[in-house]
Amino acid sequence: MKQSYKVGIIGATGMVGQRFITLLYNHPWYKIEVLAASPRSAGKKYADAVGKKWSMDEPIPESVKDMTVLDATADIEKIAAMVDFVFCAVDMKKDEIRALEEAYAKAECPVISNNSAHRHTPDVPMIIPEINAEHAKIIDAQKKRLGTKRGFIAVKSNCSLQSYVPALHPLMKYGITKVLATTYQAISGAGKTFESWPEMVDNMIPYIGGEEEKSEVEPLKIWGHIENDVIVDADSPKITTQCLRVPVSNGHMAAVFVSFEKKPEIEEIKKEWAEFAGEPQRLELPHAPKQFLHYFEEDNRPQTKLDRMLEGGMAVSIGRLRPDTQYDYKFVCLSHNTLRGAAGGAVLMAELLTAKGYLD
Ligand SMILES: NC(=O)c1ccc[n+]([C@@H]2O[C@H](COP(=O)([O-])OP(=O)(O)OC[C@H]3O[C@@H](n4cnc5c(N)ncnc54)[C@H](OP(=O)(O)O)[C@@H]3O)[C@@H](O)[C@H]2O)c1
Repeated sequence: MKQSYKVGIIGATGMVGQRFITLLYNHPWYKIEVLAASPRSAGKKYADAVGKKWSMDEPIPESVKDMTVLDATADIEKIAAMVDFVFCAVDMKKDEIRALEEAYAKAECPVISNNSAHRHTPDVPMIIPEINAEHAKIIDAQKKRLGTKRGFIAVKSNCSLQSYVPALHPLMKYGITKVLATTYQAISGAGKTFESWPEMVDNMIPYIGGEEEKSEVEPLKIWGHIENDVIVDADSPKITTQCLRVPVSNGHMAAVFVSFEKKPEIEEIKKEWAEFAGEPQRLELPHAPKQFLHYFEEDNRPQTKLDRMLEGGMAVSIGRLRPDTQYDYKFVCLSHNTLRGAAGGAVLMAELLTAKGYLD
């Protein structure tokens, strides 16, 4: 591992890009060297480019305010020469994102991506660091395919599943057979605030394009295994979801129902959650929560406003575990969608890959 890494943020003016800035400007290992966005923002000072779209609670850090925004597409070679790797979160067409990310990788600039475009590319790892850190090993096969020495793409999963997949993971040993999850998703997940999306005040929308498919399919890649230079999806459990947009600024909640081959006792489940730790905790990565899964005994927890910022927004809160009449158990869980579910999860993945030597 090097002393310090220069990083770029592609899509720096967006909702996730802003989160990257707040997480990285004081990071012990990383230094923000490049901010890039669309041609609309390129050439402007960051503060002017982001303007009223800045929606973080804290002000724009002084160290980035006056940085000149580069063009994410036109300046690929230049950016690749300036940084050790980039974080990427852009709002473009899927095929454009696929091409953009591959162009950075081929310019020998690793890409830590929040976009969905490469989530189903079989040699691109989709990592929740506490769950499938070992999938990083597929990077060697990907580099072989791309013909690169250090360039590769690693992606984060969708934000909807970041609460229930971690809660289910320590219970996989009991043979989970089926899962039903209804998610209640914050408006920041669509890159919006109540100012930019006033229709969401006092409202719910029962449709988020593509979200239910992602929520049902992506967990199977995360629980998959590496075989012959690709990640092979797990074939169970069966998952069904409904994803609703709710009038909340940040924090995705999920109501989960689960059945098992070997049904554990309630106290066993709570013990599995309490004792669960992954690679980030063992390696003491800078953004790793000390306790990844927190169980609340109170009937009225977790609550979005009270609990989304637990451990800097990187922990998952769980509550209301109880027997169900149709499934074995039901419970509720919560994660911060732009921290653990987006930029924070990507930063933790970068920290994991840094500690394992993939970003040297
Ligand atoms: N919000 C979340 O919670 C969340 C969670 C997980 C994943 N994601 C994913 O992260 C990505 C970004 O989401 P967001 O919510 O941050 O979106 P957003 O707020 O709409 O920001 C989009 C960013 O993309 C840039 N962009 C747009 N067109 C571009 C182009 N042609 N070339 C280069 N850059 C371009 C924008 O730059 P300009 O300002 O110059 O237009 C802006 O920086 C999406 O793929 C989304 O699915 C979001």
